[in-house]
Amino acid sequence: MTSSPEHADAMTPAPGPAQRAQLADRIKRHGPLECRTLGWGGPAVSAIGLGCMGMTGFYGEPDEAESIRTLRRALELGCNFWDTSDAYGPHANERLLARVLGSHRGQVFVATKFGISIDPRTMRRSVDGSPATARRSCDASLRRLGVDHIDLYYPHRVDPATPIEETIGAMAELVREGKVRYIGLSEPGVDTIRRAHNVHPITAVQTEYSLWTRDIEADILPLLRELGIGLVAYAPLGHGFLTGAYRNPQHLADGDIRRSQPRFAEQNLAHNLQLVDRIEQLAAEKGITPAQLAIAWVLHQGHDIAPIAGTKRVQYLEQNLAAADVSLSPEELTRINDTVTEPAGDRYDPAGMRTVRL
Ligand SMILES: NC(=O)c1ccc[n+]([C@@H]2O[C@H](COP(=O)([O-])OP(=O)(O)OC[C@H]3O[C@@H](n4cnc5c(N)ncnc54)[C@H](OP(=O)(O)O)[C@@H]3O)[C@@H](O)[C@H]2O)c1
Repeated sequence: MTSSPEHADAMTPAPGPAQRAQLADRIKRHGPLECRTLGWGGPAVSAIGLGCMGMTGFYGEPDEAESIRTLRRALELGCNFWDTSDAYGPHANERLLARVLGSHRGQVFVATKFGISIDPRTMRRSVDGSPATARRSCDASLRRLGVDHIDLYYPHRVDPATPIEETIGAMAELVREGKVRYIGLSEPGVDTIRRAHNVHPITAVQTEYSLWTRDIEADILPLLRELGIGLVAYAPLGHGFLTGAYRNPQHLADGDIRRSQPRFAEQNLAHNLQLVDRIEQLAAEKGITPAQLAIAWVLHQGHDIAPIAGTKRVQYLEQNLAAADVSLSPEELTRINDTVTEPAGDRYDPAGMRTVRL
């Protein structure tokens, strides 16, 4: 399959002289964005990936033009690990990426996911990891993205009604057919990881991991290290909260998904804002932004971890990628760990929590 005309690179002319000079300057000052390997002998991706979810909803009004600029800027800055899903939009997010991928396809490592569908009327989600859905969704994502293979493909959630061996078995066929390069899991539990890895090597597990979501350190992270599986850390900014930019959830747009997240809820807000105050203080002492501190902390938890920070804005992207240049000493890490204590509230509402660690 080749890129269809609908995915032609009309929106993405080559960078002009000023942009090239800017890029050359960043590379001269900092070197190209560091790469990390996902899993033992797995693919190399930029140490900080770009989470594209918010470009088509979930976090306030989408801004298509700015999102396209952000994707193009990511290309220029060597941020080549892009994370999407057929559930984002739904479908619109993959189509958006296709508009920039075009002739740049070879520069980007595209990760997408399947298996969550959202009823547009009720917003109720359902999970389907059946082999038929894996095959059908893969073909549809290839068409929408305008690519002939997906670099990293995840079932977006583990389907309790389908044995994981069947889901991964079907995905392994997609690998054999050349439609998928690497297989990942999103939000799995330890037993699922072992069973899946027995069917086909799992390259990466994607789960929430940040200064305020560290539960995986008890069992998931040691298991990934035992099996040689990489960790893709999503929401390294705590869905934005850790940046200090979301102090008043009343200011979130209607329909912003964070309105339903317990850590943004009234009863937990005062406690969680204290954590943000501490992060802001630590960041100020170091002369960096809270977002950079949060991302740098994740980067310092191991070379087998690649955070994917989400944004639809060039300004945030540039700021976030500069976190790759932040060095934290063992003393600073200890201080951060001692200072940023447990948040109040689960990361998702009860329905959302029932879909993780299965
Ligand atoms: N596997 C899964 O189930 C799952 C679940 C959630 C997310 N993900 C993936 O992980 C990616 C990252 O997670 P996330 O987007 O949920 O959370 P995140 O990266 O922790 O935070 C994103 C939020 O932070 C804001 N932000 C980004 N940089 C900022 C900065 N420097 N200063 C102030 N605010 C900043 C963004 O604003 P703007 O939107 O205004 O740019 C957005 O609201 C997603 O895009 C998605 O690809 C996967």
